Amino acid sequence: MSDPFQLVGKHVLVTGGTRGIGRAISLRFARAGASVLANYVRDTQAADALRQEAQDAGLALETVRADLTSEKGLATLVAEVQSRFPSLSCIVHAAATGVHKPLDQLTLRHLDWTFALNVRACFELVKQLLPSFAPGGTVLGVSSEGARHAVPHYTVVGASKGALEAMLRHLAAELAPRGIRVNLLAPGSIATDAWKAMPDAASRLATEATRTPLGRLCTPEEVACAAQFLCSDAASGLVGHTLIVDGGAAIAS
Ligand SMILES: NC(=O)c1ccc[n+]([C@@H]2O[C@H](COP(=O)([O-])OP(=O)(O)OC[C@H]3O[C@@H](n4cnc5c(N)ncnc54)[C@H](OP(=O)(O)O)[C@@H]3O)[C@@H](O)[C@H]2O)c1
Repeated sequence: MSDPFQLVGKHVLVTGGTRGIGRAISLRFARAGASVLANYVRDTQAADALRQEAQDAGLALETVRADLTSEKGLATLVAEVQSRFPSLSCIVHAAATGVHKPLDQLTLRHLDWTFALNVRACFELVKQLLPSFAPGGTVLGVSSEGARHAVPHYTVVGASKGALEAMLRHLAAELAPRGIRVNLLAPGSIATDAWKAMPDAASRLATEATRTPLGRLCTPEEVACAAQFLCSDAASGLVGHTLIVDGGAAIAS
């Protein structure tokens, strides 16, 4: 019997797949045998470094630049997926953006921009790429604790993650009869570049590590292993599930 956790022969799109958690997912999936298309928007240096690392390791991984907050960027990415892959096995929506501010500093522009990438881009990609899906396909949304709990100054991002979770649960029920499994991953605090924008990042990450039952923060690679499981045949019974990867932080009082 073949290993149900492997991803050999699968064609995978990872949005935001060149840095942080998305990068770890791109590499993990490629190491598990998938052909990976990792999307990014600005940081060409990070994308080039990932492509080089994959090439050196003999992995099937390419990168595509496309701003998923724009119609043009979405069209570019859909066209790239359709031209590079004979069919699509998996979409991982890891790309996310957003500002961390109190309400009196938030604007509608912040809200719209955040939802454009975190929710709308996922909706558009799943809808437009639906005809490209091979049987046994999977969609994985990357959510966060802010979808369920109030995190300081996380209003617009948390709202977008709540919307992403609700949207993907509905799609999970709708697409399961068509052989496409939709699930979500909710990492706890993970030390990535995303934290660099926050002035108190070091102290918040240290506090979070201390209150986590595991005694430390989880790594992008640990999140990527959970992502591999959810997108592999080993998770063939999981539909509309949100898997929390946080070292137990969510269950700690
Ligand atoms: N880090 C955490 O503590 C944490 C916790 C819970 C959930 N998450 C979730 O995990 C996911 C990854 O987070 P991360 O911390 O790894 O983020 P990150 O290191 O900041 O990486 C973000 C990625 O998204 C890409 N991206 C940003 N805007 C884009 C756009 N408009 N179009 C296409 N791609 C775009 C970036 O491309 P460039 O490199 O070109 O900028 C980059 O590859 C997100 O969904 C985040 O909400 C993170």
